[in-house]
Amino acid sequence: MLLQLAAFFLCYTSLVSGQQRCNYVTITSCDGDVTTTAMNLVRGPKGDAGLPGNVGPSGISGRNGDKGAVGQKGDVLDLEPFNREMRIMENKIREINNQAESITQRLIEIHRQDFREDGWTVFQRRFNGSVVFGTRVWQEYKNGFGNFNGEFWLGLDEIHRLTSGRLCRLHVNLVGFDGSQAFAEYSSFAVDDESDNYRLHVSGYNGTAGDSLAYHDGIQFSTTDRKHDRTNWNCALQRGYSGGWWYNACFHSALNAEWGSTGDFKRNIIWQHWKGVHESIKESTMKIKCH
Ligand SMILES: *[C@@H]1O[C@H](CO)[C@@H](O)[C@H](O)[C@H]1NC(C)=O
Ligand SMILES: *[C@@H]1O[C@H](CO)[C@@H](O)[C@H](O)[C@H]1NC(C)=O
Repeated sequence: MLLQLAAFFLCYTSLVSGQQRCNYVTITSCDGDVTTTAMNLVRGPKGDAGLPGNVGPSGISGRNGDKGAVGQKGDVLDLEPFNREMRIMENKIREINNQAESITQRLIEIHRQDFREDGWTVFQRRFNGSVVFGTRVWQEYKNGFGNFNGEFWLGLDEIHRLTSGRLCRLHVNLVGFDGSQAFAEYSSFAVDDESDNYRLHVSGYNGTAGDSLAYHDGIQFSTTDRKHDRTNWNCALQRGYSGGWWYNACFHSALNAEWGSTGDFKRNIIWQHWKGVHESIKESTMKIKCH
């Protein structure tokens, strides 16, 4: 039995030519087999003009014959443009699926980090300068950036989420360009949400690097484009390449500065109580363990 299931006009703008096209699509079923046909409604070419009439007998010349009828419209059943558009749409859909997949991958990675390194969650890692930190803006520090297998900043929203309503320890690991190592551990660490500009709460120092975070306790986060420091100028902007941090007036530490041993203290990655402000730190890891 032949059954018409649907018939509709499908109009779309060609991604190739930019022209609007319409197809008359019918979906029919014949004994369970579903068939889709699409008729392209592009106008066919004009038919040929009719032949002129015969010349009349000599003497009075005869009048011209009637013009021939306009030819039939050309064949309109051209499915190729329709199929081509369908293929382009399929590719678009595939692209969107791939994007969704990479976002899912990122979420899985964040989840995995929760269980890595013996229960520690790493939220900042620097070691070779492959990822730019120093010039990034608020939105980037909020959402995170970098690469979980390399250098990265997890993102302030995620750090807030991880530390919210839990008691978290912070461990900061540092390595100098001379190979020396030190650490700073804090028995309590939390970051407020964006409505309070990710205010830092840190206390209970223990370690070998010296306490270069106490000065930043109770301070909101700042970037070059969002100033919440305690100066009349803008610490992040004045430093230029120092990245986002909980700038006070301005810092005892700045672990998100531009990577590299430049000797320029405005760029240095700093943990003042360990290396002072004129020597940049080569590697840093900031990680938390929460209960
Ligand atoms: C930094 O380390 C990452 C991850 O191991 C690597 O992929 C990248 O090539 C390194 N970059 C430089 C500049 O050494
Ligand atoms: C200080 O940190 C070390 C290394 O994580 C740890 O083993 C030790 O228990 C800590 N001491 C105090 C008093 O918290």
